Amino acid sequence: KYLVMPASTPTSTDSLRAIIAAAKFRDETELVEQLLERPPYDAETASRIEDHGAAIVARARDDKDNRPLLDTFLTQYGLSNKEGIALMCLAESLLRIPDQRTAELLIADKIKFADWASHAGKAGSLLVNTSTWALMLGSKLVDVDREFSANPAEWLHQLTTRLTEPVIETAMRAAMRILGREFVLGTTIEKALNNSVDGRPYSYDMLGEAARDAATAQRYFEAYGHAIEHIGGAAKHEGPSRSSISIKLSALHPRYEPAQQGRIMTELLPVVKRLCRAANERGLALTIDAEEADRLALSLDIFEALARDPELAEFSGLGLVVQAYGKRALPVLDWLVALGRETDRRFPVRLVKGAYWDTEIKQSQVHGYPSFPVFTRKASTDVSYLQCAEKILRYPEVLYGQFATHNAHTVAAVIEMAAGAEFEFQRLFGMGELLYAAAQDEYSTFPPIRTYAPVGSHDDLLAYLVRRLLENGANSSFVNRFLDEQLTPRELVRDPLTVVR
Ligand code: FAD
Ligand code: 2OP
Repeated sequence: KYLVMPASTPTSTDSLRAIIAAAKFRDETELVEQLLERPPYDAETASRIEDHGAAIVARARDDKDNRPLLDTFLTQYGLSNKEGIALMCLAESLLRIPDQRTAELLIADKIKFADWASHAGKAGSLLVNTSTWALMLGSKLVDVDREFSANPAEWLHQLTTRLTEPVIETAMRAAMRILGREFVLGTTIEKALNNSVDGRPYSYDMLGEAARDAATAQRYFEAYGHAIEHIGGAAKHEGPSRSSISIKLSALHPRYEPAQQGRIMTELLPVVKRLCRAANERGLALTIDAEEADRLALSLDIFEALARDPELAEFSGLGLVVQAYGKRALPVLDWLVALGRETDRRFPVRLVKGAYWDTEIKQSQVHGYPSFPVFTRKASTDVSYLQCAEKILRYPEVLYGQFATHNAHTVAAVIEMAAGAEFEFQRLFGMGELLYAAAQDEYSTFPPIRTYAPVGSHDDLLAYLVRRLLENGANSSFVNRFLDEQLTPRELVRDPLTVVR
């Protein structure tokens, strides 16, 4: 049985893979009890973290001029009213609907019950009003539709149906585009590089995932290759904070799934290796994003093969993302430590909480899994994140910590635990600006902040956008409650260890 905090890290990557596999569906209560056995910091540090966290929140709330547009939008919609949910369902489903007629039926179904008019004109921003009007227009047209369907004048009904639903769809897509611009640095890598003017390190992400066929995977591969060439030419940073590219393995192979392990190692691995070599030649780092839990083992297989490849021996920028909401997060870090030692490498490790929570819960139910591969309580994930951060910081010779979060408590906790050690923070383009500006004011010195910057057209945006809307809109999210004056800064930054206990 795996102990969360073994006195020393097991040294064999093979034995650690077995431990990782066994941890996938561990009992949450038992695991969390173990996480609490050896807290990552003492009580005094815990209260210092809360003090700084609360001060960061208070500073950010004072900075009213720089509030992001999205915040205004979500104050109106969030996920806890009918309109917000309708918007979310619609955005999420439109992505998956292959034919126009079904898309139109869905749009009609989702919009007609919402009370868009109650939001109109309430928030003083162009974004909110544009979207509200677009949606309201749609809703009114659907109402007109319903009236006509009760009317025997069928021909008119038919006409209206044909005319209105495409109009609604256009309005919806326009609203999505407006929102999308908030999260995308540029539609092409050339434009994105021109927009990266703040002198900070970036990790560029070419939008695209879940390739359904070989041609799409090839298109994404070419986009990554093209991006690497351009980013390399424009690179300004060196060492651990050099520019980087983030890739999603699901974009690069249409059968990136556990049952296809053999094909993945013969077909996907060489593709990823080519990107690594290109990144190395251009002086860039390359990070493999974390996706769904069922793909974790495959991603580790690929990562290990790259780390052990003698032709990539000189590539020091090979990085991995670890999701703290996964029950396997800590043993994955142990495995990375062992792999780094065996291959004499230092890996950049981006620690995130995880962006696929809703998907994980639903997939586990659909497959009838014995449990969930992720925690089901927000505070359990927070505690796991703190333990993972502590572990990363404990092995600076093998791991370079890249702490990706938009949560003030998490930021303050990492700073305390790091105690001056080398690491960086990461934020997503369009998020976390206020938070990090306030955090930088709070401390006399501050580590580098890297921006993860999606690049691409709105055709490839929707999956990413829906994850951002879920993250911003969920009432368990820090960012959702961050600027809500009903909550005091202290309430927002309560130590998760205390919450869990
Ligand atoms: P918080 O509000 O403190 O935490 C929100 C998170 O808590 C949720 O996202 C979820 O992970 C977790 N959570 C919410 N409800 C529950 C619950 N009921 N039970 C258990 N856990 C819960 N995500 C990826 O998956 N893969 C990536 O490769 C990736 N790359 C990223 C890169 C950067 C630079 C950044 C900033 C984020 C990235 N993310 C990635 C997204 C990341 O997972 C989310 O931004 C993050 O979870 C939000 O955490 P937080 O600390 O900012 O916010
Ligand atoms: C996502 O695509 C940022 O990798 C993260 O949601």
